[in-house]
Amino acid sequence: MSYVFQMISLERVIEYTDLEKEASWELEYRPPPSWPNEGLISLINVNFRHKSDGPLVLKNVYAYIYPGQKCGIVGRTGAGKSSLTAALFRLSEPEGDTYIDDILTTSIGLHDLRKKMSVALQVCIAEHCHMFFL
Ligand SMILES: Nc1ncnc2c1ncn2[C@@H]1O[C@H](COP(=O)(O)OP(=O)(O)OP(=O)(O)O)[C@@H](O)[C@H]1O
Ligand SMILES: [Mg+2]
Repeated sequence: MSYVFQMISLERVIEYTDLEKEASWELEYRPPPSWPNEGLISLINVNFRHKSDGPLVLKNVYAYIYPGQKCGIVGRTGAGKSSLTAALFRLSEPEGDTYIDDILTTSIGLHDLRKKMSVALQVCIAEHCHMFFL
């Protein structure tokens, strides 16, 4: 490896040490292993920014996604569709309350939250998909 590449690697590692830390992986309060029993997602006045000093990209979002419901998030580019996923996974800490069933997602550790969620990269939109417009 050339000297230049080594210096770029070093520069990146130093940048990574300066990243904002994520919330704790596990907290004292643990959801029961059976959680989520139903899968009701409730977003109550959710605000989200990707960085603590960045702009709000989701503002006052209220939404209920009912158990078993297929829900499409639609909106123009930059509307915040991907940011909604980022808020659900707590890639940065959202403001407001997001519940999955009766558990406030910010009250549990990131590992307990994320191990119960997954992302399907691409799916066909079901005919009777419920749409949320951002
Ligand atoms: N990782 C990120 N860091 C900082 N800002 C981001 C990040 N991802 C998205 N944004 C900003 O958040 C806002 C919403 O973008 P987002 O990517 O959620 O929109 P989108 O609806 O998914 O758009 P698209 O249809 O292009 O995928 C935009 O202003 C965007 O620049
Ligand atoms: Mg997107």
